[in-house]
Amino acid sequence: MADPWWREAAVYQIYPRSFQDSDGDGVGDLRGITDRLDHLAWLGVDALWLSPIYPSPLADLGYDVADYTNVDPRLGTLDDFDELVAAAHERGLRVLLDFVPCHSSIEHPWFREHPDWYIWSPVDGPANNWPASFGGPAWSLDVESGRWYLHSFYPEQPDLNWRNPELVAAMHDALRFWRRRGVDGFRLDAIDRLFKDERLRDEPSATDFPLPLHGEAAQLGRLYHTHQPETIDALAALRGPADGAVLVGEVFQPTAGIVRYLDVLDLVFGFELLFAPWQVTRLRAAIEPAERLRRIAWVISNHDFDRLATRVGDENVRAAALLLLALPGAAFVYQGDELGLPNGPAATPPWDRAGRDGMRNPMQWDGGHGAGFTTGEPWLPLGPTPERNVAAERDDPDSLLRLYRRLLELRRGLGNAFRFLDTAPDVLAFERGDHLVVVNTSARPQLAPPAGEVVLETHAGALAAGEIAPHSGAIARSPG
Ligand code: NOJ
Repeated sequence: MADPWWREAAVYQIYPRSFQDSDGDGVGDLRGITDRLDHLAWLGVDALWLSPIYPSPLADLGYDVADYTNVDPRLGTLDDFDELVAAAHERGLRVLLDFVPCHSSIEHPWFREHPDWYIWSPVDGPANNWPASFGGPAWSLDVESGRWYLHSFYPEQPDLNWRNPELVAAMHDALRFWRRRGVDGFRLDAIDRLFKDERLRDEPSATDFPLPLHGEAAQLGRLYHTHQPETIDALAALRGPADGAVLVGEVFQPTAGIVRYLDVLDLVFGFELLFAPWQVTRLRAAIEPAERLRRIAWVISNHDFDRLATRVGDENVRAAALLLLALPGAAFVYQGDELGLPNGPAATPPWDRAGRDGMRNPMQWDGGHGAGFTTGEPWLPLGPTPERNVAAERDDPDSLLRLYRRLLELRRGLGNAFRFLDTAPDVLAFERGDHLVVVNTSARPQLAPPAGEVVLETHAGALAAGEIAPHSGAIARSPG
């Protein structure tokens, strides 16, 4: 059977409010995205993932959904959405939506109309010691009913009760709704939070979770408030309504914890790589076990964490791009990383209370007013590097943007077989089919493994005379 389209896909993450404003109100919108599709086709990605576009009071910038089957009026209309999907498909681009099943907005009418679609404390106060992801307890008082409800994230995001079949049916309907409108896939938000322990037991203390956690969550175990066996069956049941659409899980677990999700989902993000410091041993330790699972969605930055340039440093962004796009399987690129954008300033007061404004500043299209993002006042300030913009980088054959484009083209022809090579300590090297991929994470030249003809380099002459230059990467043919 032929491989599904997504197996080796490069998916471009769009943060809709920050991508392109078409009407001068300072907020990116769906028409803006449609206007920029030619650019994305030129870049060579296969699909777009749109962070949430639904009506939302914006307590979590769209991850607090007030209506699962509509478009936020600030972003456009359902007609605009249909046009976007049609225009994307005309260009051979698939469209993935962000599906947020674990919680709604507290302003979703369901919260009052169907309280039993949510999770309530059986006592007059927090039911247990569970922490919310952004700090503080996971329980808040609903003043209107006098009861305490569970929220794994902000208090404005009450957790939905997936043990209630009516809620499940409503969520399945939402998937069908978007599928009928031509959506090709869904990124499933925070999916290891779908079910919680039915008895709401206290978490024991623990500090051994390998991914970063906020505040109290870092001191507590994860036996009961996340990652429950029932989740797997509920995800399997999404297959029917998803009707062949690709399902990509955001599972905030180390690699060992995501294996079961791959029984029922197509792809799962590999978070260990996203958090791996730019050091060979750490990168290899993150990649090797994940690669064996075959269906990892590789990702090295997104709208929740430091931008790639800030995390690995400007000097390493080219080699990081090469690594991401040379790994076997699907890869996700966050908007602006292809320009080398670092973290930017927050708004005053910040939009996001958890400090993520600076990972979401507007896309930079040109060097003019509003960076070509808006003719108005941008909803978030522009970032600190106006010279890193699409117009300037498209004109420069040596730009990072052009490097992404070359990588996106070349990755289609890399073979499947994958094997790490043991090399100098600061060199990450692996075979992919009949190609060799070499990355030097250090500031000094390093000995490189034997290689054939170089087909792509992050810097001119990066791989030559048996050496790989500092902060560089190269893809070469395997030695003959
Ligand atoms: C993960 C999303 O990426 C993040 O932005 C959001 O705050 C949480 N899930 C809660 O929906």
